[in-house]
Amino acid sequence: MRIIQISDTHLSPGKAHFADNWAPLARWIAEQRPDLVIHTGDVTVDGADVEADMQYAADLMHGLAVRFRAVPGNHDVGDAGHDHQPVNEERLLRWRTHFGPDRWVEDVEDCRLIGFDAMLLGSGEREEALQADWLDAVMNDAEGRRIAWFLHRPLFLDSPEEGDTGYWSVKPQPRARLTRLVRRHSVALVASGHLHKARDFVLDGTRYIWSPASAFLVGDMAPPMPGENRLGAVVYEIDRGAIEAKIIEVPDLSSHWIDDVVEEVYPRRPDK
Ligand SMILES: [Fe+2]
Ligand SMILES: [Fe+2]
Repeated sequence: MRIIQISDTHLSPGKAHFADNWAPLARWIAEQRPDLVIHTGDVTVDGADVEADMQYAADLMHGLAVRFRAVPGNHDVGDAGHDHQPVNEERLLRWRTHFGPDRWVEDVEDCRLIGFDAMLLGSGEREEALQADWLDAVMNDAEGRRIAWFLHRPLFLDSPEEGDTGYWSVKPQPRARLTRLVRRHSVALVASGHLHKARDFVLDGTRYIWSPASAFLVGDMAPPMPGENRLGAVVYEIDRGAIEAKIIEVPDLSSHWIDDVVEEVYPRRPDK
């Protein structure tokens, strides 16, 4: 079973700055003949506020003609505690209308793939508690399957014990609970997006993969952190309980840098 993870496509009909990378990505996906595509969020430029971005990106994803699952990013459903775009029921409903559930389970061979919504973590939304109970339940009834997680924001940048990294990784409190689950259930893989950097490492027996984006790279706007500045995708081969993973350079992607266009794509808003 071949699965492709893509991430951070940042698609929009109105802000087409990265649109030229969709066709080569879609072409490469077709050549790979995957059984499933998993998108780890920031599908859109601004689906958190612009319905047309959701519709456009969902049409492109359906146009792949491959079954897909997706988890939302901050630009798709907003973020916990965000001043202007808090994650809330309205935004989640919009996501679900276009992309399906923001948390899901796929049992593949002897593995259980679990996608969940990192934007809810620390939000205090009713859905956060429902998702936490659901996650406990799907972990507990995995019946010995190897477990792989897919979420937008990485659990941590350097270490599960690190402090608050702000925008970049999951907040320490929800992270601690998730880290306990990773250890208790010997989670095999935690795959994320959001950072627009490629990284593949193992910590305490769990493999962590940061999927590269396909839209753009982030330069000096990001603090120093591990990972490589490259675009691409990830190919997983799942054979019974074994999960092989490889970060791939997708041919013909243009190396856009957000730093060059940020005032057009994500203009700063006056503080409240
Ligand atoms: Fe992104
Ligand atoms: Fe993001």
